[in-house]
Amino acid sequence: MEEIPLAVPTLSADDERWLVDCVRSGFVSSVGAFVEEFERALARQLGAAHVVACASGTAAIHLALRALGVGPGDRVLVSDCTFVASANPAAYLGAELAFVDSETASWNLDPALVEEALRRWAPVKAVIAVHLYGQPADLGPILEACRRHGAFLIEDAAEALGASYAADYPHPACRGRQAGTIGDIGCLSFNGNKVITTGGGGACIVADAALAARIRHLSTQAKLPGIGFVHDAIGYNYRMPNLNAALGLAQLARLPQFLERKRAIAARYRAWAAAHGYACQPTLPGTRSSEWLPSLLVPRRDAVLAALQARGIRARPVWTPLSAQPCHRGRPRFGGAVSDRLAAEGLSLPCSVGLSDEQQQRVIAVLEEACRCA
Ligand SMILES: Cc1ncc(COP(=O)(O)O)c(C=O)c1O
Repeated sequence: MEEIPLAVPTLSADDERWLVDCVRSGFVSSVGAFVEEFERALARQLGAAHVVACASGTAAIHLALRALGVGPGDRVLVSDCTFVASANPAAYLGAELAFVDSETASWNLDPALVEEALRRWAPVKAVIAVHLYGQPADLGPILEACRRHGAFLIEDAAEALGASYAADYPHPACRGRQAGTIGDIGCLSFNGNKVITTGGGGACIVADAALAARIRHLSTQAKLPGIGFVHDAIGYNYRMPNLNAALGLAQLARLPQFLERKRAIAARYRAWAAAHGYACQPTLPGTRSSEWLPSLLVPRRDAVLAALQARGIRARPVWTPLSAQPCHRGRPRFGGAVSDRLAAEGLSLPCSVGLSDEQQQRVIAVLEEACRCA
């Protein structure tokens, strides 16, 4: 039986060539030309002022919080429906966390609940807004609420490279912008399952030059310039190695193709779901999803998932709410009915860039049979 994975990278001879060049340069670790070249290329791609490449998406969020001064006892709001890495870095820093439910319109942070949480749980130091599965959050009103209440806004765009806001998105601060470039800091992941990969890696996207310099400094053990080992803060070994950046440059060159394929795969799932009366993750008007991980709601999801798994199709449930995770249980939650429903009925489908039409046809056929029988 052929296995169909959820989301695996597409690697080619081009990737190999860049990696070989990097090995031949002798600079495979935290020094080398590819890291800065990758940062410049990514900044151009995103229309961003500054990009700091780092070791993972989790490291990017940790650096972002630390650079914004989040520390013990500070309050941080995070999406309830997301991967655990959206929240863990705040816990590393001793911050207090509360989770905020999704809206049905995008499956992302509900702006009205963010406003309520900012008011009732004041003072909040930072809000981490996730662009779930590549679908941009309704960031305009969230940004305004953060500014009103003096909270920083971090975009967790780990899943959303290539997602954007169109010219007709209602809020001017987001119009025509890429996801991850709007908040105080945006964070990306280049893990192997993402739209492009560096093996492992991440990046902070920053408009403010001093903030970018602070993040870079913290990512390199907060070591002062010069040949001595003098450190003016407790830093981290979070800089992206040159070898990973070389792979990132090769992958970034193919981002438009990868996004086109992701969107074609998602469109096919969406057409099937619409024809059979199932709801996919909605596209918020005025936004364009990267369609990193196409997901839909199906009744009796666990039975459907088991049937797919039994046929080697590595579909997955939508995220368990962070508020229900054993490691975060007991923290406050604002709302929760939507993230509970997404967790109970949400199903994410195979969507590797390399998924063939025949493979996708098989996924859809098994899904259709499983939904009929469940
Ligand atoms: C929403 C979200 N945030 C953060 C991360 C963490 O990224 P990384 O695995 O590169 O540490 C991921 C993915 O892994 C993610 O999906």
